[in-house]
Amino acid sequence: MEKRQVLFVNLRRIEREGLESLLAARRLGYEVVLLGRSLPPFAAPLVTAFYQVDTYDRATALAAARDVAGRYDIAGVPSFTEVDVQLVAAIAAELGLPGMTTDAALKARNKYHMKQGLQDMRDVLPTYHRVRNLTELRTAVRDIGLPAVIKPTGASGSKGIFELRDEDDLEAAVEQLEKIARPQFDAVFQQFGAEFIVEEYLEGEELSVEGLIAGGEPHVVMVTDKLTSAPYHLELQHVMPSALPSDVLAEVQATTVQIVSALGFDNCAFHLEAKWGPRGMKFIEVAARPAGDYIVSHLVPLSCGIDYFANVVRIAVGAPLELEPDRDLHAGLRFVLADRSGRFEGLGGIEDVCADPGYPYFFLEHPVGTEVTLPPASFGLQRVAAVCARHVNRAGLDALLSDVDCLVSARVTVAETALA
Ligand SMILES: Nc1ncnc2c1ncn2[C@@H]1O[C@H](COP(=O)(O)OP(=O)(O)OP(=O)(O)O)[C@@H](O)[C@H]1O
Ligand SMILES: [Mg+2]
Repeated sequence: MEKRQVLFVNLRRIEREGLESLLAARRLGYEVVLLGRSLPPFAAPLVTAFYQVDTYDRATALAAARDVAGRYDIAGVPSFTEVDVQLVAAIAAELGLPGMTTDAALKARNKYHMKQGLQDMRDVLPTYHRVRNLTELRTAVRDIGLPAVIKPTGASGSKGIFELRDEDDLEAAVEQLEKIARPQFDAVFQQFGAEFIVEEYLEGEELSVEGLIAGGEPHVVMVTDKLTSAPYHLELQHVMPSALPSDVLAEVQATTVQIVSALGFDNCAFHLEAKWGPRGMKFIEVAARPAGDYIVSHLVPLSCGIDYFANVVRIAVGAPLELEPDRDLHAGLRFVLADRSGRFEGLGGIEDVCADPGYPYFFLEHPVGTEVTLPPASFGLQRVAAVCARHVNRAGLDALLSDVDCLVSARVTVAETALA
């Protein structure tokens, strides 16, 4: 029988995740047609046809998708990437395939519209305001108080998260954000640009919820404990399943289901971020695509055996989900950070990690030789490697992950001109 195709719109930036998404489609018996800005060499053997298009130009990309649909038997358009959530929704609607509404896709992409869409759930929201300049920020902070957090409405990957602890921080944050929130700094800013949301600072344990929603029915697959760095909130460690007490987890899961339903999410993966603190669960954001940082591509299969990416493809083609866990293990991942700016020369101690069966995967985040800079000059370069660990219990997993800090170090050499 002739194979059908699924249409991918770009690939996830992390190649290991992009590879896993392509392999998931193939496991289910589909060929992949890729519409995107580029075809990375690793993907070429797994892609039946590649259509190069500027996916930030929605009309052109939509026309290209129509053309693809005329040539191939497209069974679904899975959503794997953050910036393409709205385009994927538009393509699915155009081709009559499972997808989400334009309105839900906007709420998924813009942190301000997202929070506006949850006005009936004020208990879980921080106080927040949308701001575009210092004057608006000052007014907003009078209402919210300090500490607060200001961040772009349409970014991801912890680009431009600024804590505001005292009045003097306001001007500095706006100055930095105005530099960052431009398409020249990062293409993610093409759509919403220099638009920011300022929120009260939430205290508590950070967590994320990995789920899937198909035909209007949400499923929580996993709750993950998260650690972030100070002060720029880079994600440092993810551990699953969460060690929060079972009654807390039940509340987190129920609130998550209410949130994704209230936002109108459908036929997508979701990745919700929240804090559990003195006032219960407080919502940070939810994305309508799979989690990054290897959370669902690698950690979920290691921990419970659910093939999360295959389910993302199943949703897109309208096939029943397969959500039965086949194991009950603890999995986690810890990032190795550069402690200074300079040339990334490799890692010390990696042989020990590779020799230890407790660490099933090790990932380099950048090629050796990359010039790394630290936040706020750049937000995507400080994490140079990631080490994944697995154990039958949480204490064992925690020990493996904390050993990573002792075992592995990033070698960074500082240019002599910088020292002079
Ligand atoms: N109101 C808040 N209070 C406390 N911490 C916050 C708040 N908002 C954001 N943070 C911190 O900053 C991190 C990143 O924020 P957010 O998730 O909104 O941005 P993002 O760019 O989408 O990040 P990512 O893509 O890495 O998830 C959060 O995970 C959290 O650690
Ligand atoms: Mg986030």
